[in-house]
Amino acid sequence: MKIAIVYKSLTGNTAMVAEALKEALKEKGPVYFGPPEGCPEAELYFVGSWTDKGSCAGEIGEFLRSLENKKAALFGTAGFGGSEEYFRVLSARAAENLGRGCTFLGSFYCQGKMPPSVRARYEALLRDNPGDKRAATSIENFDAALSHPDRADLEKAKSWALTMLAASAKKEG
Ligand SMILES: Cc1cc2nc3c(=O)[nH]c(=O)nc-3n(C[C@H](O)[C@H](O)[C@H](O)COP(=O)(O)O)c2cc1C
Repeated sequence: MKIAIVYKSLTGNTAMVAEALKEALKEKGPVYFGPPEGCPEAELYFVGSWTDKGSCAGEIGEFLRSLENKKAALFGTAGFGGSEEYFRVLSARAAENLGRGCTFLGSFYCQGKMPPSVRARYEALLRDNPGDKRAATSIENFDAALSHPDRADLEKAKSWALTMLAASAKKEG
């Protein structure tokens, strides 16, 4: 089966997950590893993105819409990663983009560190309004994200890739 790993990563977090998937799938010899532009035809696509204002990157949405009758497994990283519920929302939003006849196999998300400028913004909010609970929570979240993706995230991503491979084989009948 031809496998492509397609992703967009601005600061490297999603790229780390993509590398872990490549490692897990190396025996299957993915035909492609890289950005959406220039991705050749495949049967199973692992498509990954950073999170931009609650959705996948625009180029990734566009790529997913261009797929027809393909199997797809989605992955991503998000700064606000505290809850599985949030990851489910992100996954559902990304999957909505899949083109006609595509089979959505499943998704993997983990938290991804954010640039220091983001923390500085929350700090300023808190300085202006020390009672701002949302800003305080956002700082906590920012700090929790700093170590991600960590080794455990990447190991989880690798096992998930194999699960997706098995799910894909099942769909073949
Ligand atoms: C402009 C911008 C918007 C973002 N919007 C969100 C968001 O809505 N939700 C979220 O969880 N993280 C958001 N983030 C954080 C990134 O998605 C997160 O740090 C991710 O791991 C970055 O992945 P990358 O290193 O592969 O680019 C945003 C980051 C930037 C720069």
